[in-house]
Amino acid sequence: MQLDDLYRRVIMDHYKNPRNRGLFEDDSLKVELNNPTCGDRITLQLKVEDGRVKDARYAGEGCSISMSSASMMTESVKGRTVEEALDLAGRFSRLMQGEEVNFDDYEDIEALAGVNKFPARIKCATLAWNALRKGIDEEERQHS
Ligand code: FES
Ligand code: FES
Repeated sequence: MQLDDLYRRVIMDHYKNPRNRGLFEDDSLKVELNNPTCGDRITLQLKVEDGRVKDARYAGEGCSISMSSASMMTESVKGRTVEEALDLAGRFSRLMQGEEVNFDDYEDIEALAGVNKFPARIKCATLAWNALRKGIDEEERQHS
């Protein structure tokens, strides 16, 4: 199916040409999370200033789904307010539950829609977004 091919291309593009991969060389907020199913791990760094995600980077090893999802997630949240980033995370959860969700503000994410048919793969795709939630929680704890 043409659409599937397109989606696969988008996923492979993020996997082979990752955006925001490699950590900052400073002490920006850092969170680590692993996928309990396979043990793969992601490290996420966020620079949050004035309630906005100024920058985000990640490192880790994992399958193409998890790594491309991390690339998309970091790219999509950069420059957004914390609320907007959490809204994206919420929409991603709904996408993984099989809902039709609009990602006009970062269309590449829609390429992961088909993943919802494979429960083990949902964990792969969701890893980066769970790391984002954990990072924002951590940030709010440090500044409250
Ligand atoms: Fe099996 Fe990710 S846990 S593909
Ligand atoms: Fe480990 Fe996908 S198989 S994150």
